[in-house]
Amino acid sequence: MKYQDIIEKMTIEEKAAFLGGRNEWETRAFKRLGIPSIFCSDGPHGIRKQAGAGDHLGLNASVPATCFPTAATIANSWDVELGETLGKTLGEEAMAEGVNVLLGPGLNIKRSPLCGRNFEYFSEDPYLAGKMAASYVKGIQSQGVYACPKHFAVNSQELRRMAMDSVVDERTLREIYLTGFEIAVKEGKAKTIMSSYNEVNGTYANENRHLLTEILRDDWGFDGIVITDWGASNDHALGVAAGSNLEMPNPGLDSARELIAAVESGKISMEDVDKRVDELLDAVMTLYVNAQGRKEDFDKNAHHSIARRAAAESTVLLKNEENILPLKKGAKVAVIGDFAFVPRYQGAGSSLVNPTKIETISELIGNYDLQVVGMSRGYSRGGEEDAATRKEALDLAQRADIVLFFFGLNEDSESEGMDRTHMRIPQNQITLLQELGQVNANLVGIISAGSAIEMPWHHYMKAMLHCYLNGQAGAGAVLDILTGAVNPSGKISETIPRRHEDTPAYRYYPSKERTSEYREGLYVGYRYYDTAKVPVLYPFGFGLSYTTFEYSDLSVDEKGASFTVKNTGDRDGAEVAQMYVSLPDGKVFRPEKELKGFAKVFLKAGESRKVTISFDDKTFRYWNVKTNKWEVEEGSYSVSIGSSSANILLTGSIEKSGTTDLLPYEEAQMPAYYSGKIENVSDAEFEKLLGRPIPDGKWNGQLGINDALCQMYYAKSGLARFVYRRLTAIKKKADESGKPDLNTLFIYNMPFRAMAKMTGGAVSMDMAKGFVEVVNGHFFKGMGKVIGGFFSNSRKNKAYEAKIKS
Ligand code: BGC
Repeated sequence: MKYQDIIEKMTIEEKAAFLGGRNEWETRAFKRLGIPSIFCSDGPHGIRKQAGAGDHLGLNASVPATCFPTAATIANSWDVELGETLGKTLGEEAMAEGVNVLLGPGLNIKRSPLCGRNFEYFSEDPYLAGKMAASYVKGIQSQGVYACPKHFAVNSQELRRMAMDSVVDERTLREIYLTGFEIAVKEGKAKTIMSSYNEVNGTYANENRHLLTEILRDDWGFDGIVITDWGASNDHALGVAAGSNLEMPNPGLDSARELIAAVESGKISMEDVDKRVDELLDAVMTLYVNAQGRKEDFDKNAHHSIARRAAAESTVLLKNEENILPLKKGAKVAVIGDFAFVPRYQGAGSSLVNPTKIETISELIGNYDLQVVGMSRGYSRGGEEDAATRKEALDLAQRADIVLFFFGLNEDSESEGMDRTHMRIPQNQITLLQELGQVNANLVGIISAGSAIEMPWHHYMKAMLHCYLNGQAGAGAVLDILTGAVNPSGKISETIPRRHEDTPAYRYYPSKERTSEYREGLYVGYRYYDTAKVPVLYPFGFGLSYTTFEYSDLSVDEKGASFTVKNTGDRDGAEVAQMYVSLPDGKVFRPEKELKGFAKVFLKAGESRKVTISFDDKTFRYWNVKTNKWEVEEGSYSVSIGSSSANILLTGSIEKSGTTDLLPYEEAQMPAYYSGKIENVSDAEFEKLLGRPIPDGKWNGQLGINDALCQMYYAKSGLARFVYRRLTAIKKKADESGKPDLNTLFIYNMPFRAMAKMTGGAVSMDMAKGFVEVVNGHFFKGMGKVIGGFFSNSRKNKAYEAKIKS
């Protein structure tokens, strides 16, 4: 052990207390031992360092920081150099604010477009998500700050996120839900990782030895620390034994006592505790040294410019009929839509940044060579009818040659702590869009939304720009693209399906009660649409440019694929070339094709360049559940190069010999998985995939410590049902206000145990259990535990504090 000398001096009380946070964001310092404290902060697209006391989801404002485009946006750039630049800039701001661990990037897989946090995640594809995440990690860590890829793992749903079990087969787990993390760890060299709230196959992620030790540390060689998501610890002792280091945010000393009791009873070993302490000491000491002599400010304007470049590179031109874009110099335009005045540039939740400044279209458009006939909000965010504004918009549209319509998802549609229930944007925006279309055929739609939406109205538009959530400098980036100062080069990192009903997890998402069954298996996003031949509106990897590119001369050898890309238009521009691999006659079922590499190539008008995309250890592998190893199936693999998943331009092939004769599945037993038609997977077939019986996810009688507060509709106690109704009413009111109330959403979805884990020691686990008894109708017995627990907890806390004072 590296810190043997310190560990030898530590009492068991000090060790146990060290493995839990001291407040919302900091670890405990021990002066006597020379152990400093480190500071953690969100987040993935800007620093959220709270100015006053921390309160998790942000009642207290955070200090101003650059709000960069969110991960869902940046993934559309397919530019790992940009990712690294952003990471570096985030790291610099973190250092300036005294933040040692940056809680991001988030890279959960977009299993369903409905997940409320999709705007924070990169992609439906693990390879792209992993490469982008690794680039952020490298950039952040280059500044002496640790990155913390999250949420590990299989956390693709917000509903009851702390009281939900993801039921997923080992192959899907490895190939889809873990590969991105593997890349972030192996290539990005992430030094911390955040364990997620949910259970994975019946064991909390934070207690999951398979995830935290066998895979993360043993297979991938992770040598950093595992930090729990805020309140994700269930049984701290089991967490420590499984490989988790730091319980956050402020579990209080009850958790530390639990840990000591577990060592004393032999439930876990002292060796496990020492290992975790050693790993945490390594992080704390290194981070402390890294921060010595740090710069305490950063160049706000320079970072704003980086945010603008990032937004421009990540904007996707979905449609451009008659080359209506870029706008001609002096074009007569009407600017319509509330989003042009009040931009939607980030999502809600723990990632919410207090920006250093915000640019808007309405303020900036005057700087461009355009004739603006007028600007109107057109519709209201709240959905109220306003005939005068509507008329104003339609009049303007009549007077303009081109209408720039700014619209998208409102603030209340996407947030941490909730999932969407549909993929539509508000009807009042669509009604206006249709009316505008009646008076002016030259409609250009500029969409702000952090995730895929249904676009049944797309034919009203001649051109569409999908900006996702493009950060504080997004407006300038959009105007640069509209006017041609920047040539768009973004490509969507998720499929835009025709309708929600077409999405692969449509019938399985979100979970009903306790379990979320990942019945669609590997068939997430384009892997499904391609294989099951379901038509989509815009395919994965799609995006237009103002110039054109030609692909030629593919050669494939053992090392990779080489080909030439030429810019055949008259503007400089960048192209994202994508490499997909498939095994047409494979015996092991697999998606039609899978992304295994990509390159973003900047080419001057007329320029051509040879591009090489190398194969790596992930190109041909699949997880074999029989050998329990990555294997390669024998056969002739197609290696396809395309400008999107649906536009394959060059195809070559390569022979591979197999690594095992043991094949994992019998085709006759798995028709859905062999055809990709996974819309209605039978129980029997899902069990074949899982290799075990499907766990019973039904709620079974009594509420337990790990059931969510929003399940109190089951409560026997009338009082608890009343509290449930009150909570629901508060949540509903907040939802209707148009601004999600994060703290309410958090409380609504949190399990009873979180009362003990997130109250800084004020509530012990025994007290939380007492509350559960009350809820289950045993008022006096329960309250007895709560009151008795209160006194004994305060007494024990005081005694413990005295022991660790240094
Ligand atoms: C979120 C994390 C975040 C943490 C701290 C949790 O609720 O899931 O992503 O880093 O809070 O704010």
